[in-house]
Amino acid sequence: MTTQAALTVALSKGRIMEATLTILREAGIPVPEDIDSSRKLILNTPGGEIDFILAKPVDVPTYVEYGVADLGIVGKDVLVEEGRDLYELLDLGIGRCKMSVAGLPETPAHFTMPRVASKYPRIATEYFRGRGQQVEVIFLNGSVELAPLIGLAERIVDVVETGRTLKENGLIVQEDIMDISTRLVANRSSFRLKSAVIDDFVRRVRGVVETEE
Ligand code: PRP
Ligand code: MG
Repeated sequence: MTTQAALTVALSKGRIMEATLTILREAGIPVPEDIDSSRKLILNTPGGEIDFILAKPVDVPTYVEYGVADLGIVGKDVLVEEGRDLYELLDLGIGRCKMSVAGLPETPAHFTMPRVASKYPRIATEYFRGRGQQVEVIFLNGSVELAPLIGLAERIVDVVETGRTLKENGLIVQEDIMDISTRLVANRSSFRLKSAVIDDFVRRVRGVVETEE
């Protein structure tokens, strides 16, 4: 399928999808009815103005940086970790959580060099480097809370939303690194070449997220 709409927008599948669609619909952007039930990965608005692509959150910055999507909606955690060259246009105020360091209440000091497990190796490495602490960062794809429980690492760096995962696994937050929320980002050349249609999209979405603040 080729994408020929005026605007291509990459959405993050998963956790923030429902809240994202609510904002887009309230903003008057004609999101396809079946977007969250269909298995299609490219969906077009009824009038054909916008193509939506449904991507893994971690890949959204890649699609936008390469310009195959003009806009993307994705968490700040992914943006910081991926470090792509994009414009950040708007904070949507959804998907709010914190990036934190967590561990067992009493950290056992087993290792010569402290180990930190994370799905965010870059954020973890830079955080500890900034504090002058030498650590070995171990990349995991998920369920990072397992690491301190089974002795893979003393600490983790991960997002904490309700705190339930930490609590149910007997872990505590040790330090907060940054606040996270969902952002609207743009490809740099699209932002210039499609300024009218992007401005219109941003204005509509801003109208919704600002009244909800
Ligand atoms: C995320 C995150 C934490 C948890 C935070 O995991 O990595 O584990 O949610 O939410 P809470 O504070 O409300 O418990 P997710 O369920 O997305 O799975 P994953 O880590 O395996 O990717
Ligand atoms: Mg998790």
